[in-house]
Amino acid sequence: MATSDKPILLDVNGLSVSFATDRGPVQAVRDVSFRVHEGEILSIVGESGSGKSVTLLSLLGLHDAKTARVDGAVSFKGKPILDLPASQMRSIRGKEIGLISQDPMTALTPVYTIGWQIAEQIRAHENISARAARLRAVELLGEVGLSNPGEAVDRYPHQLSGGMRQRAVIAMALSCNPALLVADEPTTALDVTVQAQVLDLLLRLRKDFGSAIILITHDMGVVAEVAEHVAVMYAGRIVERGDTDDVFARPLHPYTWGLMASIPPLTGTRLEKLRSIPGMPPTPDMIGKGCGFAPRCDFARSACAERPPLQRAGDQSALCVLDDEERPALRQAALPIEEMA
Ligand SMILES: Nc1ncnc2c1ncn2[C@@H]1O[C@H](COP(=O)(O)OP(=O)(O)O)[C@@H](O)[C@H]1O
Ligand SMILES: [Mg+2]
Repeated sequence: MATSDKPILLDVNGLSVSFATDRGPVQAVRDVSFRVHEGEILSIVGESGSGKSVTLLSLLGLHDAKTARVDGAVSFKGKPILDLPASQMRSIRGKEIGLISQDPMTALTPVYTIGWQIAEQIRAHENISARAARLRAVELLGEVGLSNPGEAVDRYPHQLSGGMRQRAVIAMALSCNPALLVADEPTTALDVTVQAQVLDLLLRLRKDFGSAIILITHDMGVVAEVAEHVAVMYAGRIVERGDTDDVFARPLHPYTWGLMASIPPLTGTRLEKLRSIPGMPPTPDMIGKGCGFAPRCDFARSACAERPPLQRAGDQSALCVLDDEERPALRQAALPIEEMA
């Protein structure tokens, strides 16, 4: 059965997040909606500063309640979670939703062994003995591919390599068999070979544990490798989304074209040189009601100063003024997809 026929696990509707700052409120996330079905892998991709982390942290209740204002509706397993008391939200995190952050050192405490930390995490949610929790920690470390887990369990974080630490964090996130794993750039701090191993691990975990995964990345190559569905984020908005195969075959948004053109070639026969999108993403205070990408877009026009219309192609959609008539030729000029095949 296709994952989109499975029940909806997480349903995000019109999520907006703004921060109170010295210069007034800045809106970092604008009217973001997406769904994750059981067992599916959704990737949220975009350059740094596009609002990916703020989106995920705020829906998990991990934003700074003093400065952030969160609007919209989020339900997990059919129940609204945005207004839950902190204690209930904490119990959902770790038990039903596991979080894997970019920097494994922030998730681990330097002064305790990784085995102790995983066991504590288990015991915070499950009523089992310290001994049983430790055995489970050893098992989990084996499952995430640490060699000799019986010995690794007594190591301190600094005694492990970056890749091993990230595996330990993944083991911790998995410790309660969560229905949803949220991984925020889990491979960014790792070198390329270890990156590939961690992505393989996530795919295997989905297979073995059936967890759905939200994978945040700035790397379109990572999306192509693991995700079934993709949401492209820019300047606080989801500017394009759809099945990964569709988005890669026929990307609708010029920003997606730019991200795709910046994927490193697998062979010398692809694009001659790696392109990157000229210019910088805007900070939230620079974005008005129009398209946030317009200042960097080769195809921008006066209509882009207004809120961009939603274009649809089956299950795929994009926020852009370009229509079906003119898009193919422009895309072919910006991103010669056939040549890349
Ligand atoms: N606590 C905060 N106060 C003010 N602005 C913030 C805060 N946290 C994040 N931002 C801003 O929100 C924007 C989106 O940030 P973030 O979600 O971390 O981007 P990404 O994860 O896509 O790199 C950035 O411009 C960032 O500066
Ligand atoms: Mg981030």
